[in-house]
Amino acid sequence: MPEVPQTSCPLQDAFGRTIDYLRISVTDKCNLRCEYCMPEEGVPHLRHEEVLSFEEMFEITRVAAGKGIVKVRLTGGEPLVRRGIVSLVAMLASIDGIRDYALTTNGILLAQLAPPLAEAGLHRVNVSLDTLDPDRFAQLTHGGDLRRVIEGIEAAQAAGLTPVKLNCVVRQSPDEADAQTVATFAKHKGLEVRFIRRMNLRIGEFFTVIGGSGGDCPRCNRLRLSCDGMIRPCLFNDLAFSVRDLGTEEAIHRAVSAKPESGQSSQAHFHRIGG
Ligand code: 5AD
Ligand code: SF4
Repeated sequence: MPEVPQTSCPLQDAFGRTIDYLRISVTDKCNLRCEYCMPEEGVPHLRHEEVLSFEEMFEITRVAAGKGIVKVRLTGGEPLVRRGIVSLVAMLASIDGIRDYALTTNGILLAQLAPPLAEAGLHRVNVSLDTLDPDRFAQLTHGGDLRRVIEGIEAAQAAGLTPVKLNCVVRQSPDEADAQTVATFAKHKGLEVRFIRRMNLRIGEFFTVIGGSGGDCPRCNRLRLSCDGMIRPCLFNDLAFSVRDLGTEEAIHRAVSAKPESGQSSQAHFHRIGG
């Protein structure tokens, strides 16, 4: 395999921000239906041939790492429902230059997958958890089993996928009752929590993540790769560059050059680009 030269100058956008973080959505499918993410009527899935293969994801990530990407996160939909996810994790772990390798999951399949994921080279996980009340959890996710998520979190800690962080979506503030149950649980288990206000991308309603780095435009260091092969420079903008049409290098360069100074609004779906 040809060596990808390590660049001496990292990717910089037009506003002087260093771009070193790639979020990869590995599937648009999910085994839950969170009310703020999936429309109630369900969503049409991408066709098989539209979704990037593991080989394509590997190649894109390899090129991105050669251009200065040092942080990678796998997202979805729900990444753990993609068949063969452990092999994909192992393929990407073999790429030189990635210093931080994480995955965001709803935790439903984590109890069984945490050990093989750690073994495959994943560094850590973020788990979405909005409440510790089993009935509220089932309601919010359309039938999810909270027990499995808690077992998943424990398994991730035991497997060394640490620090395990929780993503807690709130309506207005972390003071809400559901969020408080998550805060108490996190304290008890030694977990970090980030609180994320519900967003509506379509009407440009987005917020800075409380306790995290998302949504802070002047400090944004991200690119996203959607599961159908588009490089997107901003979650809150419809700009998207196809790696299949342009080639990875060109798609990355165009996305970085076009990265807007701040977000506006977009027609993107969380379940397709992974938040
Ligand atoms: N607002 C804020 N965050 C969202 N997510 C999905 N939909 C929304 C939304 N409407 C995020 C959550 C979840 C992650 C997978 O996607 O943080 O934990
Ligand atoms: Fe699935 Fe995550 Fe969306 Fe919930 S927020 S429906 S778990 S992709």
